[in-house]
Amino acid sequence: MSEWQEFPKIELHLHIEGGAPPEFIRQLASEKGVSLEGVFAEDGAYAFRDFGHFLQVYEAATSVLRTPEDYLRLTRAVLAESAGHGVIYTEMFLSPDFCGGRDLAAWREYLAAIGEGAAQAEREHGIIMRGIVTPIRHFGPDKAKETALCAAETAGDFITGFGIGGDERAGKPRDFAWAFDCAREAGLRLTAHAGEWEGPDSVRAALDDLRVERIGHGVRAIEDPGLVERLARDGVVLEVCPGSNVALGLYPRLEDHPIARLREAGVKVTVSTDDPPFFRTTMTQEYDDLARAFGWGAEDFAEINRVAAQAAFCDEAIRDAIV
Ligand code: ADE
Ligand code: ZN
Repeated sequence: MSEWQEFPKIELHLHIEGGAPPEFIRQLASEKGVSLEGVFAEDGAYAFRDFGHFLQVYEAATSVLRTPEDYLRLTRAVLAESAGHGVIYTEMFLSPDFCGGRDLAAWREYLAAIGEGAAQAEREHGIIMRGIVTPIRHFGPDKAKETALCAAETAGDFITGFGIGGDERAGKPRDFAWAFDCAREAGLRLTAHAGEWEGPDSVRAALDDLRVERIGHGVRAIEDPGLVERLARDGVVLEVCPGSNVALGLYPRLEDHPIARLREAGVKVTVSTDDPPFFRTTMTQEYDDLARAFGWGAEDFAEINRVAAQAAFCDEAIRDAIV
């Protein structure tokens, strides 16, 4: 067993469907008589060529998740896996696009099921979950508005954040400003995927036009020293997913990844998996790899988790429990 497996971890960036083990998706497909062509490699893992293809495979796998009960089972499976890697608190991206097609009544049913799955996982494994409602950028601004309305209506309880995922190359952050304003007015905390497939301007636009407090990925900020300085000065927290970035070809090797340089420049970095089985990673694997590539040890990881606890979209009582 890795020395890092039981180390207590906080994860801020995990897509619920992206956490689905391939066996789980195959099982649901067989129960429903759905054939999933081109989703799996010969060894049974998910297979994709590049980021665009990854998004297609992700959506194809997600197509077998059709009922609130499916999401209850998924929530339990994903949280059990995370807890097995020492995760004590996790934030999950949840998309009304996949959970009832942005219909508010259906979304409420999916959330009730996900909440029940999370409550069971908390009782069984002690892991705490909070949800970030997430439009999909390449589905466009109109669907993002509907998603924001779903988010606003269900803010509170375990829904504490609003974010945006999907293809960063589609549209501009300001196209989604209405959705983010709506979520902010409902009291939700804000994050956005940026600086993954686009460069520093995309990170700046997420900060200026969407007024988010955290950035999903954000790693390409390293290409602009002025932006790195701004992130450090303003305490913007990056949800860095190193294994995801390497698996999708953003950096050839972990040694080339900017997480250590960002941290040395004073930027608040945290560590997450994004879509662990897709990228053949786990939180333990991330810590193992970072320890090897950058010589990080217990003090480094403890500090990274303190940063994550401070940036978590939770109330003070939970923060005190996880810090
Ligand atoms: N959805 C799931 N994983 C993602 C990623 N790495 N970037 C953008 N959207 C995603
Ligand atoms: Zn992501």
